[in-house]
Amino acid sequence: MEILRAKTAGFCFGVRRAVDTVYQQVEKSREPVYTFGPIIHNEQVVADLEARGVQVVERAEELEKLSGGTVIIRSHGVPKSVCDKIHACGLKCVDATCPFVKKIHRIAERESQKGRHVVIIGNDGHPEVEGIKGWCSGPVTVLGTAREAEEFAPKEGTTLCIVSQTTFNYNKFKDLVEILEKKRYDSIVLNTICSATEERQAEAREIAAQVDTMIVIGGSHSSNTRKLYEICKQECENTYHIQTSVDLDKKPFQCIGRVGITAGASTPNNIIEEVQKHVRVEF
Ligand code: F3S
Repeated sequence: MEILRAKTAGFCFGVRRAVDTVYQQVEKSREPVYTFGPIIHNEQVVADLEARGVQVVERAEELEKLSGGTVIIRSHGVPKSVCDKIHACGLKCVDATCPFVKKIHRIAERESQKGRHVVIIGNDGHPEVEGIKGWCSGPVTVLGTAREAEEFAPKEGTTLCIVSQTTFNYNKFKDLVEILEKKRYDSIVLNTICSATEERQAEAREIAAQVDTMIVIGGSHSSNTRKLYEICKQECENTYHIQTSVDLDKKPFQCIGRVGITAGASTPNNIIEEVQKHVRVEF
């Protein structure tokens, strides 16, 4: 059987770096290790880390109750106030914010200090967006739809700095920027979209078009996995979404001919490997 496994399947660079950081800290730290929020949205990884003693801190207020240890910041990043609080509580801070997100923090901080109104094209409430907001010292607005962009009307003379959430759709970003540019504010636009998601989707599409069976691995609640599934299904009717290799035995598989495998952004490598092995042995 021929298996085509996507090179971009699973963790992107930033998530891999953050997960590796936690495992390294567990190895070398004698004090408790915490992550600020779950390090990734993958039950198996979070459970494995929990078994190694890693605890998840959900809110900034909880930091005050900790009596020492290391707090790791995940790839999404956090507002500046959280970093400050970790230090103020006498805890060690290990920042695993993805460097692409960190770059946006620096831009937001710098341009905000210069007096620009920061506009984040993204989904309000998303942890990454909340983090970026928290590096602005002046006005900041999140715009996620054309309507919001049209209604955005800061007072005349306002200067803008427009950035985007790393996972935002490029075409949507372009449309919103166009709307804002018509308003003729003095603005600088920085396309801070990360290409990892797009590359993963493009490769999945390409592989799905060449195979007889396509397997998409990822959490049932993972929106990027669902998106991958939809893309693959368009190219290959025989596409399946599974969470782990266990699901391979449950589903009515028609595993025939060439098989393609891809995985969502929070699927660890060992799960992808297990699926690959299982397909080779069982089908
Ligand atoms: Fe991943 Fe960092 Fe891009 S976390 S999706 S590599 S911005």
